[in-house]
Amino acid sequence: MLDIEDGPSAKKHRRNSKAEDAVAAAERRKQLDAERRQLPAWAARDKLLQLLQEHRTLVLVGETGSGKTTQIPQFLLSARFGSIAAPDKPTSDNAGAAGPSDDVKLPFEGPGVVDKHGGFRSPGQAQTNHHTSAGSDGNGVSDHGGAEQQTGRRSIGGSGSNRAGGGAIAVTQPRRVAAMTVARRVAEEMGTKIGDKVGYAIRFEDVTSPSTRIKYMTDGLLLREALLDPMLSRYRVVIIDEAHERTVHTDVLFGLLKGVQARRGDDFRLIVMSATLDTARFVDYFPGAVAALIRGRQFPVRVMYTAKPEDNYLDAAINATLQVHSDEGEGDILVFLTGQDEIDSAERLLRDRLAALQSSRVASPSTCRELLVLPIYAALPPEQQMKVFEPAPEGQRKAILATNIAETSITIPGVRYVIDTGHVKARDYNAKLGLESLAVVPVSQAQARQRSGRAGREGPGKAFRLYTEADFAVLEPTTPPEITRCNLGSVVLQLKAMGIHDVLGFDFMDPPPRAAILRSLELLYALGALDAAGRLTEEVGRRLSRLPVDPMFGRVLLAAMEMGCGQEAVAVVAMVSTENVFHTPRQKEREWRAARLKFVSREGDHLTLLNVFRGFRELPKESNKARTTWCSDNFINIRAMRKAEDIYEQLVRFLGPPSPPGLGLQLATCGEDSTPLRRALTAGLFPHAAKLQPDGSYRVLATGRQVFLHPSSVLLDRKPDCLVFNELMHTTRTYARDAVAIEARWLPELAPAAFAAKTTAAIAGVGVGVGASGGLAPAAAGMGAGARGQVPRGAI
Ligand code: CDP
Ligand code: MG
Repeated sequence: MLDIEDGPSAKKHRRNSKAEDAVAAAERRKQLDAERRQLPAWAARDKLLQLLQEHRTLVLVGETGSGKTTQIPQFLLSARFGSIAAPDKPTSDNAGAAGPSDDVKLPFEGPGVVDKHGGFRSPGQAQTNHHTSAGSDGNGVSDHGGAEQQTGRRSIGGSGSNRAGGGAIAVTQPRRVAAMTVARRVAEEMGTKIGDKVGYAIRFEDVTSPSTRIKYMTDGLLLREALLDPMLSRYRVVIIDEAHERTVHTDVLFGLLKGVQARRGDDFRLIVMSATLDTARFVDYFPGAVAALIRGRQFPVRVMYTAKPEDNYLDAAINATLQVHSDEGEGDILVFLTGQDEIDSAERLLRDRLAALQSSRVASPSTCRELLVLPIYAALPPEQQMKVFEPAPEGQRKAILATNIAETSITIPGVRYVIDTGHVKARDYNAKLGLESLAVVPVSQAQARQRSGRAGREGPGKAFRLYTEADFAVLEPTTPPEITRCNLGSVVLQLKAMGIHDVLGFDFMDPPPRAAILRSLELLYALGALDAAGRLTEEVGRRLSRLPVDPMFGRVLLAAMEMGCGQEAVAVVAMVSTENVFHTPRQKEREWRAARLKFVSREGDHLTLLNVFRGFRELPKESNKARTTWCSDNFINIRAMRKAEDIYEQLVRFLGPPSPPGLGLQLATCGEDSTPLRRALTAGLFPHAAKLQPDGSYRVLATGRQVFLHPSSVLLDRKPDCLVFNELMHTTRTYARDAVAIEARWLPELAPAAFAAKTTAAIAGVGVGVGASGGLAPAAAGMGAGARGQVPRGAI
């Protein structure tokens, strides 16, 4: 396998003299500067800064690609929001011109998206929103009064206020890719090295330094930072970007930031940025917030539907791509698919079809122009991600195969055609069963519109929806916030660790279902993270909250420390935290299956992954060549391995060192004896314990749900009587992925709170009749006496 990082291409640039490099860099910056100034955000700069002087919360709406993410933080920095003092310069001559006004204009001038269904740019919709409308100041931005509207200009953190080191700007992104690509872009625009003035931080990767003023980060990471620094004192401004996505972390941050604001007062600014118009929710939620709109450019987009439903949207997407390529004029194609596997197969199919077309020469002349197929998804290596942003070479056309990452978080220049499969991979959570899953589901109407809109960024475009107009009409209007449909285990744990005891009473913008909160309280209790009164336990809970992994895996790690298999457990958790360790090329199935045999452990997938990790670590770290060869010989993805190694080392740093964030734990090894490791896995994954059924399926003990072993599991040939697994996956059936064989008798011993009912009932003071057979018992008193009873009895 070719490894881009190790390739020879990097060296080519060295031949240029330093002077030539400098000239090229200056040219590039000039060009970037010109590009920046064209962005709609640029026209709104002064007004935005002024609004931010006057209001503690700014809700900023702007069409995707208008420069919110890349420009606003730079404006703040140049106005010294990100460092010492506010600008002295009066902002613009029309200060105060805005304000509640009847003179309401359309929020987006220009043609707007042609969308028969009243897309989000339709005037009617915009006007029904009382908080967002365009003023007449000609400044590209408008505001409507918030409570603080007329309080006059204040100097924010003027030179008098002492905020040593506390002046940075944090910008959150729901996705890691967005944080990385945007940070790189902004560093380039500012002419600095990434990690210097501009940096990014995502889980397991921190590219910042003490001089970092603008820090792009995932929303999950800011939440983690709040754990250690509840006032977020190192930030002067926090920008919650892509707020419309309403990820679970964003929603929790809203609640926390509201508190931070109340306590930090004028020393702190919050900007909520969103690509959709429904700002009312945000404005209502944050006291004294004001909404502003960046007037974007948007060209008309013709939306086309299929005449009848498609059986296979993947095939349909490939056909549509080829058709656009052969029939349509200039412009790149953006195809929305659901995930990496699907994108990989689409890429393969598309290349095969293109090759066939080329050789048969039946294609129309324009098909002979090359089609450059480029994937983009979160797990793609950064170098490859960056490729989609480069313009297609002369005479070529890009076909970008993307997940919903390209919906709003990143803007790819050159796109004129959008192909929307109408599907997305979404998290779903069944609170009753306590099971979380990722499933491919239809998009919402709002998502479909957002996708179509991507075709009209640079000129009139076309969107091909691979579903019927009737199907569109019955789609959900919007996607419900993630917090209402996900496992809240780690969120509840973090709230508890921040001292927010009454999680049910937390000021959520949209409260999650009570049952889901109760479920996670039960889980945390069963894991030993909470005591019977629902308080965080120091021994387990506090430690778990510090570990950057899911509480269940965190519990595996803590148990492993006690059981003398810390090194193995950390390796396993690192391996399951990376994706796609194994290469499985279709054409070489026999070869990769043979190679895999070397690593297979009959005891399960976790141990198999451990064998791979051990094999990799035996090779000297300095020898890239040996590692590359080993990986390619064994059909193993070197990038996944490097990532796993990195996570391994970071987790070791979290667990080992005696001072925080280190937990001061011993990382012993259990050698070749797998029992301690399997026991440690049981101690954390017991809510996912399942028992073999006569028909070859498994039954999850805690919920009674029937699941099937995933076809990729090494246990498939010799199914153990009892196992624990990492996660469930829904396709045609519910599959348990990554499973390891355990002994049923370990369960009551290692997870007494869940499997030894008598003890539990006594501790919890809730006399619910759960049989010794298990089921997660109700947690602390008063937290959840409901939702019992579906527990299968005598299952073990
Ligand atoms: O946040 P918003 O969607 O409003 O826009 P943005 O992400 O700040 O992007 C503004 C412009 O910068 C886009 O139109 C892209 O042309 C460009 N950009 C880029 O070329 N490469 C990136 N990695 C990010 C943005
Ligand atoms: Mg953005």
